[in-house]
Amino acid sequence: MASSLESIYSDIEYYFDTYELYGQRMTTASDEQWKAEWESIIKGLSERAVVQPKDDVKMLTVATGQGDLEKKVIEILIKLFPNSKLNVEIVEPAKEQLDKFKASAKGMTTEHPNLTFTWFEDTFEGYMAKRQDNGDDHKFHLLVCVNGLYYFDDWACAVDQFYDLVLPGGVMTNTIDSGDSACGMLFTKYREWEGNPMNLLTANDITSYMKTKGLDYQIHLREGAVDVAEVFDEKSVEGNMILDSLVQRKYFRKHAPKELLKTVLDFVTEHSHERKDIVL
Ligand SMILES: C[S@@+](CC[C@H](N)C(=O)[O-])C[C@H]1O[C@@H](n2cnc3c(N)ncnc32)[C@H](O)[C@@H]1O
Repeated sequence: MASSLESIYSDIEYYFDTYELYGQRMTTASDEQWKAEWESIIKGLSERAVVQPKDDVKMLTVATGQGDLEKKVIEILIKLFPNSKLNVEIVEPAKEQLDKFKASAKGMTTEHPNLTFTWFEDTFEGYMAKRQDNGDDHKFHLLVCVNGLYYFDDWACAVDQFYDLVLPGGVMTNTIDSGDSACGMLFTKYREWEGNPMNLLTANDITSYMKTKGLDYQIHLREGAVDVAEVFDEKSVEGNMILDSLVQRKYFRKHAPKELLKTVLDFVTEHSHERKDIVL
């Protein structure tokens, strides 16, 4: 069943509208769990003596969008390393998103004079090419990539590069859908159905890759559920946007071969369940 549907990321404005909507329809495990996990990851840097109390801390964060989650990680770093200078490099290609991040970061640097940001309006690939051109080889204690690897030209190459960018004892983190979640299983199935893996990466792909390289990793699972009720209403604009997010294709219902559309909707029906009055 081969077809050539367009990536949802080919239209940046539409992409961020769907991403925002998807986030609104999503319920995730408590913020407290998220915070506790990040604190334990970041505490590990001092426990392993990678960062001494007054050392400068260097963080790289890639594919940040407007940085909502990344800012929370930075707040944790500030809290746990109150006497350190903290430099954060931000790599994000979408200008509008980066501008929003910059605007909201101003308050953070006013409040925390030890915090500085270096901004790169670029893809990760572009950032790496510039580093190479400049002979730049500085590294980081912490590398954070939240929901970004789906869109990279070559995610496996990026994982290798992430690893090389981290100082010994430092941490690289990738947040991405688990292949065992309903959404992750749909990604895995869908790439076979369409015959195209574009934007359909799961955490299982990354851990399998790391195993082949003999690299150490930890998994922190965070449960979440997305309200898919409207996906079945072909006239619903928002339902179609959620459907596009589920398969990472723009205007999927309009352009997909009928058989592929049916296969996807059948999968969603089979794997969703009702909670209160919402289909999830
Ligand atoms: C799903 S959003 C994640 C935004 C944010 N990290 C979050 O979790 O809300 C994916 C981000 O990856 C960025 N992106 C896409 N291709 C990229 C690339 N090659 N290098 C770096 N970032 C990229 C997009 O512009 C977008 O902001």
